[in-house]
Amino acid sequence: MLDKKILTNTENQSFQPQEFFNDQWKVYQKILDNNYMGHHEIYSILQELLLGYFQQPFRMLDLGCGDASFTAQALLNSTITLYQGIDLSIPALEIAKDNMAKIQCDTTFIQGDFSQFVPELILTQSNSFDAILSSFALHHLSLEQKDLIIGHIKNLLTSSGVFILIDVFRQEAEDRETYLRRYLEDIQKNWSLLTSQEYLIVKNHISTSDFPETQQCFYEISQKYSFSSFECLYEDVLNATQVLCFYR
Ligand SMILES: C[S@@+](CC[C@H](N)C(=O)[O-])C[C@H]1O[C@@H](n2cnc3c(N)ncnc32)[C@H](O)[C@@H]1O
Repeated sequence: MLDKKILTNTENQSFQPQEFFNDQWKVYQKILDNNYMGHHEIYSILQELLLGYFQQPFRMLDLGCGDASFTAQALLNSTITLYQGIDLSIPALEIAKDNMAKIQCDTTFIQGDFSQFVPELILTQSNSFDAILSSFALHHLSLEQKDLIIGHIKNLLTSSGVFILIDVFRQEAEDRETYLRRYLEDIQKNWSLLTSQEYLIVKNHISTSDFPETQQCFYEISQKYSFSSFECLYEDVLNATQVLCFYR
C-alpha cells in the first residue's frame, strides 16, 4: 500500500525533477502540447459547465489530477472555494500546487490511490464536494472498481453535486481488443509528431493499462446508484473520448 502524504499550499517541499521527468510524463506533456487528446475542446466545455452550473461557492475533488494544468485554466473566474487534488505522483502534485496557485481558493494535494482514498473519505464523514472530477484516470480500474468508486462518489457529493467523468470509452458492442486496435491506429495516423520510440511508450501504456467501458455501462451504473440524471456533454470525432456528467 502506498504511503499517503498530504501536501498543503503552505508547505515548501523541494521539487525533485529527476524523479518526475521520466519518459512517460514527457510524452504525456508532448501529447498535451499538441492537443492530441482534445484537452482544449474538453476543458473549454468543462469551464463552461463550471461557470454556468456553479453560481455559488463550490468545492471540488479531482481524482488523478496530474499536474492540474488544464483544471486550473478551467477554474479561472469560477466561484471555487476549495480544491482537493489526489494523485499517485508526488512530482505531479508539486506542479499541480504551482498551477493551482493562480486560483483563489483553499487547496490540498494528497498523494495516494483514489480507489483507497475515496472510501476512506466516506468513513470520516467530514467531507462533501459539489464537483468531483476524474479526467483520463478512471479507465485504469476494473469494471468492478469503477462501479464501486462511483457508488462512493455519489455519497461524497452534495445534494446538487455533479460527478464529471472525462475519459476514453469503447463503442457499444466493441470489445477491448477492437477498441485498442482502433485507438492505436488513430494515434499512429494522427499523433504525427511522436517519434517511433514515443509511440511505443504510448502503445505499451495503453495496451497494458487501459480498460475503457461503454457509455451505456456508465449509464447503468448511474441508474444503479440513483443519480438523478446523466448526460454526455462531449464526444470526439473518433467516438473514443467523452465528457459525462452524473448529477446527484
Ligand atoms: C493521463 S493522466 C491525467 C492527468 C489529468 N487529470 C489530465 O486530464 O490531464 C492520469 C493521472 O492519473 C493518475 N492516477 C492514475 N491512477 C490513479 C489512482 N488509482 N490513484 C491516484 N492517481 C491515479 C496518474 O498518476 C496520472 O497523473
